[in-house]
Amino acid sequence: MTVKKGLSRMLTLEVTRVTERAAVLSSLLAGRGDEKAADQAAVDAMRKELNRLDIDGTIVIGEGERDEAPMLYIGEKVGTGNGPKVDIALDPLEGTTLCAKSMPNSLAVLAMAEGGSLLHAPDTYMDKIAIGGGYPDHLVDLDAPPAENIRELAKAKKVDVSQITACILDRPRHAELIAAVRATGARVTLITDGDIAGVINTTDPATHIDIYMGVGGAPEGVLAAAALRCIGGQMQGRLVTSSEEQKARAAKMGIKDFNKKFSMEEMASGDVIFAATGVTDGSMLEGIRYVRGGITTHSVVMRSSSGTVRWVKAFHPSMEKFK
Ligand code: FBP
Repeated sequence: MTVKKGLSRMLTLEVTRVTERAAVLSSLLAGRGDEKAADQAAVDAMRKELNRLDIDGTIVIGEGERDEAPMLYIGEKVGTGNGPKVDIALDPLEGTTLCAKSMPNSLAVLAMAEGGSLLHAPDTYMDKIAIGGGYPDHLVDLDAPPAENIRELAKAKKVDVSQITACILDRPRHAELIAAVRATGARVTLITDGDIAGVINTTDPATHIDIYMGVGGAPEGVLAAAALRCIGGQMQGRLVTSSEEQKARAAKMGIKDFNKKFSMEEMASGDVIFAATGVTDGSMLEGIRYVRGGITTHSVVMRSSSGTVRWVKAFHPSMEKFK
């Protein structure tokens, strides 16, 4: 039997347990208006499950820097130490506000890659552009005017511009971008939070999202790039560092050129595994459901080297194992 290089395929199933646990425990706090408590529940759960894995893991994107985040901080070692060296990027609860308000699309998210393969992004903003798979390379570009990107995409999709939908975070900083996209005749779907799902939605025709544009969190950018590496698509990102302090943080993570346009492959290279479990119902995943006799979880797990995308619907007869 030939042994493929890269991460062990067993890990794809193991990481699903990690996001499942974080999703279940944060879902207990969904709709209760306490973002911090929901996030903490996800962090505790994710850390506990990660520490059971036979990996020599290092958090490269986590809850923050060591002095501000007591758990799952950048640089923290996780796993039993008996296993491959891996980089881990995580967002135990993506969309804390969505969860606290019981709104759609909050997720527990994790990406794992061979050591040294994930961009160490600081907790700043990132300008992002992403489209799904099946288009010619370099079809859209972060530096091109929004109208040009929309027109190129419509041409490649062989549809009228009016049939293109862009997903953009609903923020005042995007007023010009939204106006520029609408001026082309294209549609804009605004989201209040959760741009990892926004980016991944470009890969699924059922969501009607063709392109993701705009500025969101840099850590979320790397996680979204990891997902697109596995499922197929194109993405670019550029850090938005607005202060000297932010530049110093980026420099500490090894970033020399603050204006660099990162390709998807520069954000997530090598063999990458991406997993997410729905906390609340969303465009991509069902949220946690409390059903007669147990709980259901809905997750997606993908791996770049095989291109396999697994949708995992699980029934858990007892809450006990998550505690
Ligand atoms: P949190 O889960 O940390 O609340 O992030 C939610 C989110 O909407 C991300 O998906 C997005 O990248 C970022 O916040 C945008 O930041 P801001 O709310 O400052 O515009």
